[in-house]
Amino acid sequence: MSLAASQGSGGAADGVPVMQFANVHKAFGAQRVLRGVDLALRAGETTVVIGESGAGKSVILKHMVGLLRPDHGEVRFRGERVDRMNTGQLDRLRERFGFLFQLGALFDSLTVAENIAFPVTEHTRRSRAEVSRIVSEKLRMVGLDGIQGKRPAELSGGQKKRVALARAIALDPEVVLYDEPTTGLDPVRADVINELILKLKRELGVTGVVVTHDMASARKVGDRVIMLHDGRFIFDGTPDDLATSRDERVRRFVEGRASAEDLRSLRNGV
Ligand SMILES: Nc1ncnc2c1ncn2[C@@H]1O[C@H](COP(=O)(O)OP(=O)(O)O)[C@@H](O)[C@H]1O
Ligand SMILES: [Mg+2]
Repeated sequence: MSLAASQGSGGAADGVPVMQFANVHKAFGAQRVLRGVDLALRAGETTVVIGESGAGKSVILKHMVGLLRPDHGEVRFRGERVDRMNTGQLDRLRERFGFLFQLGALFDSLTVAENIAFPVTEHTRRSRAEVSRIVSEKLRMVGLDGIQGKRPAELSGGQKKRVALARAIALDPEVVLYDEPTTGLDPVRADVINELILKLKRELGVTGVVVTHDMASARKVGDRVIMLHDGRFIFDGTPDDLATSRDERVRRFVEGRASAEDLRSLRNGV
């Protein structure tokens, strides 16, 4: 049943998917957000997750690193049950992930260098010289070497995202989770982020998961696109497949069209 084994594109040698969800359910009170999510991420690929606001995309990313646990179903990282890990195991798991949060979330009171060094000093014992070398290397990777001494308030929105990305890759993660990395950026700055996502895949071989509403970004960075709707994946294919999908729910999202229901509620003044 393993997608990685059957399709084999750059999969792990043993065929075990990097990340696997099996029948994952998650509700918050009466709100059933995930209703049986199945997913297998292949090593070295970038998977884009699309879906309306509130569909549960960020909730899926949080399950990958154990920030949320499913009510039902299984979440595995390289075959190991994430949903059963204790705090210590989750700490070690998270060292293997880079997480670019939706809201950037740099520490305002720290310099750029201190922000990027943070996970390194938190999780490893490196000398100051080594930490400083890692900071420069990661800043070079995102095209910003030299701004070590600045504070987040002095940076543009695009630069903040890139610094947050440098921090996310500080520990050389196997998987990078990008939550709406281009949201709020102009098209040119957004494309710089797209290029960085491609570069990290190419040069570091990272497996990527990109949550986005930005269809240009989805097409550019995605090896594979999946769409979450009503708690399940209703589409799984390449960006080209997405463009030719005949599923009305997919078409509406891709083309950015309001549904008949949305239009009715506008007429009714809701
Ligand atoms: N920790 C939480 N507690 C309660 N509700 C939550 C929590 N996290 C997410 N939700 C709800 O789950 C739904 C999906 O959220 P989210 O995954 O953030 O959506 P999106 O697809 O926009 O990323 C939203 O309605 C949100 O309010
Ligand atoms: Mg979200």
